[in-house]
Amino acid sequence: MPNAHNKLTLEQAAGIWGKTDVRSLLAESAIAIGAGTPTDAGVSWTLDTTVETPITMGGGVPDPGTLPAADLQKALSNAVLDTPEETLRYGGVLGFEGLREELAKRWSAIDGVTLNLDNFITSNGSAGGISNICDAFIEPGDVVIIEAPSFSGSIRTIRGHMAEIVPVSIDEEGVLVDEAAVIIKQLQDAGKRVKLFYTIADFHNPTGVTMSTRRREALIDLCARNQILIMEDAAYADIYFGEAPPPSLYGLANGQGILKVGTFSKPIATGLRIGWIQGREDFIDALGRVKYDMGNSPVLLRALGEYLEKKLLDKHLETMRPLYKDKCEALCESLEKYCSQYVRFVKPDGGFFLWVECIGPKAREVMEQAALLGLIFPVGANFFLEQEKDDTSHIRLAFSTASVDELRRVGPLMREAFVRALGES
Ligand SMILES: Cc1ncc(COP(=O)(O)O)c(C=O)c1O
Repeated sequence: MPNAHNKLTLEQAAGIWGKTDVRSLLAESAIAIGAGTPTDAGVSWTLDTTVETPITMGGGVPDPGTLPAADLQKALSNAVLDTPEETLRYGGVLGFEGLREELAKRWSAIDGVTLNLDNFITSNGSAGGISNICDAFIEPGDVVIIEAPSFSGSIRTIRGHMAEIVPVSIDEEGVLVDEAAVIIKQLQDAGKRVKLFYTIADFHNPTGVTMSTRRREALIDLCARNQILIMEDAAYADIYFGEAPPPSLYGLANGQGILKVGTFSKPIATGLRIGWIQGREDFIDALGRVKYDMGNSPVLLRALGEYLEKKLLDKHLETMRPLYKDKCEALCESLEKYCSQYVRFVKPDGGFFLWVECIGPKAREVMEQAALLGLIFPVGANFFLEQEKDDTSHIRLAFSTASVDELRRVGPLMREAFVRALGES
């Protein structure tokens, strides 16, 4: 055996590490975090099926046929060839100014507020933005309020920062602000610091619900009174089927007390891995101080700046919106036609998700039977804190990647899955 004075052989050093269980070294937060779902890890959702080409309704990813590859290639090539000395070196933690200026122009118009580049910091997707906000504002033991259900990836990020996570229910108008007020009072009476309120106000993941204007105003009021920062996740704000969603919380509050997180993942492509945070200048400055990744790729940021400047994003969205509307309608009609006695749902006005309540069998049984029939989707329990304890009756159907023809086939397949789950066949 080696002792303190003997130099280890390389074999002995390797032997010591060979016997080491990674868990003995892990941070407490890394142990607590658990494995998460496939989409939390950024990969496709799969389940056991014998069907060769299953219909996949797993993750909130844009339709592969919409990816604007040629326009992006041109913008990327311009970024590298026109300004190599700028794009092929570090660009700073806040991100390429040209893109932040374009974001400021676009969101000033949409949110009805005056923004400049200093109101923006870029991130590795909105997931990176949410992590950046938690890095800056969350200390272990701080309370973060979330909607129940909520996006599982963000729940993991918040949990990874050792916050106490407290859920508040939502209904068809969004989060129940009155219930939140009672919970906040109880937490404060127990001496806890409620720091952040995480909401997905537009075309919520997983429920598809959009928060009404009066709830938005009530939430702003509640959080301002209690000095709770609102983290507004606007990942799906651009994906509306008819009318645009109500004014953002950021717009309503003129940016006070709100950090709004955005992304190019849903409107353009998840593979870009570029998002941003919109906030008051001093908050953005604070976020920059804890962004330890040396900034996002100047190549990508410059290319996206050009994409926005040429109004290609708005043009792209004009073709995406009717496509997702058609997909959502095809799915809803198919379920209404074939499964009306088995399901209950509210049609969303935008986004990528249909939240379906299963009448009769447990959602997990429906999911398993559907997978065998070639229909892949997650159970709603994945989007709750205590998973199966909180919910056994919902499934989440992402309609963004499947074709309209495939979505028309969902009803009959789902009906068969329900029949089998109920043991009726
Ligand atoms: C509500 C919501 N927020 C954030 C994300 C993270 O997306 P990205 O990091 O690709 O922007 C997702 C992805 O599904 C989401 O649904």
